[in-house]
Amino acid sequence: MAKIKTTFFCQNCGAESPKWIGKCPSCGQWNTFVEEVIQKTEAKEPWIKSDAHTKKITPKRIADIELGQQQRLDTQNKELNRVLGGGLVPGSIVLLGGEPGIGKSTLLLQVALQMKNQKVLYVSGEESEQQIRMRADRLNLTMSETYILTETNTQRIAQAIRDIQPDVLIVDSIQTMQTEHIESTAGSISQIRESAGEFHKFAKQSNTPVLLIGHITKDGSLAGPKILEHMVDSVLHFEGDRNYGYRILRSVKNRFGSTSELGIYEMQNTGLREVSNPSEILLSHRDQMLSGIAIGSTMEGMRPMLIEIQALVSSAAYGTPQRSTTGFDGRRLNMLLAVLEKRAGFRLGAKDVFVNVAGGIKVDDPAIDLAVVCAILSSNEDIEIDDKTCFAAEVGLSGEIRSVNRIEQRISEAEKLGFERIIISKFNQKAIPKSAKIEVIAVNKVEEVFKYVFA
Ligand code: TYD
Ligand code: MG
Repeated sequence: MAKIKTTFFCQNCGAESPKWIGKCPSCGQWNTFVEEVIQKTEAKEPWIKSDAHTKKITPKRIADIELGQQQRLDTQNKELNRVLGGGLVPGSIVLLGGEPGIGKSTLLLQVALQMKNQKVLYVSGEESEQQIRMRADRLNLTMSETYILTETNTQRIAQAIRDIQPDVLIVDSIQTMQTEHIESTAGSISQIRESAGEFHKFAKQSNTPVLLIGHITKDGSLAGPKILEHMVDSVLHFEGDRNYGYRILRSVKNRFGSTSELGIYEMQNTGLREVSNPSEILLSHRDQMLSGIAIGSTMEGMRPMLIEIQALVSSAAYGTPQRSTTGFDGRRLNMLLAVLEKRAGFRLGAKDVFVNVAGGIKVDDPAIDLAVVCAILSSNEDIEIDDKTCFAAEVGLSGEIRSVNRIEQRISEAEKLGFERIIISKFNQKAIPKSAKIEVIAVNKVEEVFKYVFA
């Protein structure tokens, strides 16, 4: 019998070492090295016969390379298409990560069922055929050309792929896959690396797009070796607050598109609904005006979004006033409060200030500064802000109102949603579209804003 070969792998970053060590020299984590068997059997059975040794290989000049028919595959899911940069690129491999229960399996099963004209093979190592069928019924999608295979052995999956010849392959999840070539258990670093390598090879050789689902670790990064993220063409994160129905699909790496795009979904009883107009879910429909609320404009990817900023200012019950934020940077709040004290003469030093971005989303776009400031003052003075007014400007340290990017889009979004007034910076004035029907008020200093808002 051949001698069993083992190596130690860091379970955090995938670093390799011939002997056990306490601290990983690569990522600095303690006690992460685990021994794994890496015995490889000889003569790997290739997915498709390799011609590496027979074919003559010559490098080509870049201009001579034909573009070919690199037509992207429409996933029939607008949000996913957008995040991918216009659809699935043939032969590309996409990794979808997210917390357990966030809806990764639901999203990809839904996509598989929606692609009516493509033959999709959905391989699951996590659920049984019946469970997947039940989920499909719940999603209420008429059965399409979707094949389900519950299998974890990559050699047997390869067999099924050869039989079915799918147009798209979905693997749920890469951590459950196991190749016979390596003896360590499923989910270990070497197994993940090796099975991902096999799917990678399949994608590139057959020009079929492959979607892999990946688990994430406690700290939110994808479980498995870092090399997994290098190997794939795109890494998508599916995230959201479980208390809210919204889910955000974000791309953190994309070889064929921008990473600034976002897809927004709402989890319903019948699966994930695509939210094409995010402001619609983020703005509450109030019947009466309340103080402490201002509407700000933010960009999520290339899309403008209007969100509700809520503030509560009250006299501090204890010695030290509290400042607390959800969805907004706490240090930025402190800065805005200091600006209000110094430049506009509001005494907020002895007050508790709470700021909340409604809808459970996080915003780091400085363009909501002015909305935050106005919400705070509205609460402090107990004067409501007209609910047909919104804000899109940054507030500087000397109380100046600074310009923000993509103002035309922000203005037209506000107009589309029925706002009658938008307050922006003087420096953005040039970019106001001529056709705007909404009243655009351009201001220079924080003090000026109050004249308009709290007149
Ligand atoms: P799932 O796709 O199994 O999550 P993951 O694969 O990321 O672990 O999502 C499961 C959750 O989604 C579960 O808590 C129930 C919920 N859900 C709905 O609310 N509506 C639905 O139609 C479906 C299918 C699931
Ligand atoms: Mg799942």
